[in-house]
Amino acid sequence: VGCLFLVKVLITDPLEDNGIEVLRKAGFDVVVKTEWSPEDLLSLVSDIDGLVVRSRTKVTSEVIDAASQLKVIGRAGVGVDNIDVSYAKEKGINVVTAGDAPADSVAEIAFGLLLSVARSLSEADRSMKEEKWDKKRFIGSQFSGKVLGVVGVGNIGSRVVRIAHAMGMRILAYDVVAHEELKERFGVEYVSLEELLKEADFVTIHVPFLPQTRNLISKKEIALMKKDAIIVNTSRGGILDEEAVYEALVEGRLRGAGFDVYSEEPPKSEILKKLISLPSVVCTPHIASQTNEAQEAVAVKTAERVVKILKDEK
Ligand code: 3PG
Repeated sequence: VGCLFLVKVLITDPLEDNGIEVLRKAGFDVVVKTEWSPEDLLSLVSDIDGLVVRSRTKVTSEVIDAASQLKVIGRAGVGVDNIDVSYAKEKGINVVTAGDAPADSVAEIAFGLLLSVARSLSEADRSMKEEKWDKKRFIGSQFSGKVLGVVGVGNIGSRVVRIAHAMGMRILAYDVVAHEELKERFGVEYVSLEELLKEADFVTIHVPFLPQTRNLISKKEIALMKKDAIIVNTSRGGILDEEAVYEALVEGRLRGAGFDVYSEEPPKSEILKKLISLPSVVCTPHIASQTNEAQEAVAVKTAERVVKILKDEK
């Protein structure tokens, strides 16, 4: 009889064990299944109360319709662009995320990419591995004294601000809301996107993927940037127009770029392949949150939020 009341949670993407533990300790029947076809998914969700995903599982309206008992979707991460959030809400299903759990790791890799592009770290490493000593080839630029433009100053952007301040940078920010604390503590100047792009030596993007942020920085915006500026995207593919970046780099209207996220993951299109192969571009395979610390924090925070919802529901 007890089984009839067992709360069932399905995990469809890789999740750290400590998150799974939190769900099991809550007394839930936890099923971890990370290999499935789209058809499998529809039947897998048919009797679950909670679903935990990362970005790989696309929680479409079809999936939601197939999950007639679903009460909560836990996104073990930040971006919810793989979930039909408005449809879930319509159906009375809660969507919870890991909040700021991976924010430090993402902010750190944004600087990693900026530094890697500005100082040609990947290229220099490659040349060393070819047993070369190309000292003269690698003239980079310093961060201290330069202008950093932070597009989106939420959990991640505000951590980027702290790092930039410690590096002695002037910080320009663009966001819909201004944080007084960041102005006071780190001298952040809130400006329009246009002004930020015109003035910044380095630009980093930290906004969610929404209809209004699609191609937020495209041809017209890149044309405003300094010729020797560097831009990195660790937010979502599609916010920074990759083709526009490629053209600007090839035409010498931009110095370099770094990408952790792509409009197509893994990238297969010709334009993305061409972009990735440029020496002025440094790329990583969507690993901003792939640290032990971030993954553990993400798993636990998401699991705790899922537990709270499912316990409150009872
Ligand atoms: C996020 O939105 O949390 C990050 O982009 C990480 O996504 P992932 O969980 O699929 O690695």
